[in-house]
Amino acid sequence: MKVLLATQKPFAAAAVNGIREILVGAGHEVALLEKYADQSDLVKAVSDADALIIRSDKVTAEVLDAAKKLKIVVRAGAGYDNVDLAAATAHGVVVMNTPGQNSNAVAELAVAMMIFMARTQFTPATGSEVQGKTLGIQAFGNVGRLVGAKAKALGMKVKALDPYLSDEQIIAGGAEPVHSLDELYSGSDYVSLHIPALPSTVGSINYELITKMPKGATLVNTARKEVVDEAGLEKALEDRPDLKYVTDVAPDNLAVLQEKFGLRVFATPKKMGAQTAEANVNAGLAAARQIVDYFANGNTRFQVNK
Ligand code: 3PG
Repeated sequence: MKVLLATQKPFAAAAVNGIREILVGAGHEVALLEKYADQSDLVKAVSDADALIIRSDKVTAEVLDAAKKLKIVVRAGAGYDNVDLAAATAHGVVVMNTPGQNSNAVAELAVAMMIFMARTQFTPATGSEVQGKTLGIQAFGNVGRLVGAKAKALGMKVKALDPYLSDEQIIAGGAEPVHSLDELYSGSDYVSLHIPALPSTVGSINYELITKMPKGATLVNTARKEVVDEAGLEKALEDRPDLKYVTDVAPDNLAVLQEKFGLRVFATPKKMGAQTAEANVNAGLAAARQIVDYFANGNTRFQVNK
């Protein structure tokens, strides 16, 4: 089978080599499309592929229409909001993710971002310490749990909200359960977002929620830019000169935010949460193994469009 590894943001060489080794070792052929300039490059490259490995690359209906031989797409990572699942299902294409494989990298970045903002973006201005502060984690999945454990090691008090988990599961994960967004936002010096981008979550982090945060609080977004209502965020930062926002997913109104709010806002130049050699290897190799296992044994354990 021909497997296309299409990554606009390339994996580390060790991951690419590992992916190739696994796939070629199982008798498959590998094609590589990195740093492509235009979506049409992906549409063209996928035309004769039987399988596709991607990161945040957009697998649209157009891509799926062009991919006449495609049987499986593996998103080497957690969030699959970049894949048109309905179109994939309509084309009979299996879509999988590789949950947990890049979580530690994202969690380390979330913690680093908290400290970066607490220490006024590493400028000489007087900062604050995270020890003794409360961190509220919105969604206590693979990343949220790791963020919580690291924050506890820094002496933070950790609370978590997750409608899919029982109190016992949240306590077992090392956090104090909270039961409403109101409780999470009003009681947290830092709120760290770990929710997926879904119709129900897009734009859900709005003015009302953000302004519930206590004096001096910081919102940390290593999830997806779409979950934050940008106009609401701008107004919240305007009305509450004590609040801060740090994000790994630059909002569309970043230039305005930076001009208006200076050191109270920071965005990474390019999404980098999962951009470590370790995460690339973990997620990339898992994707390759899942493809081998799917073709050899029909294993659909990580399928997300069942
Ligand atoms: C994920 O959903 O796994 C992360 O957002 C990583 O995305 P990336 O592979 O584009 O860095």
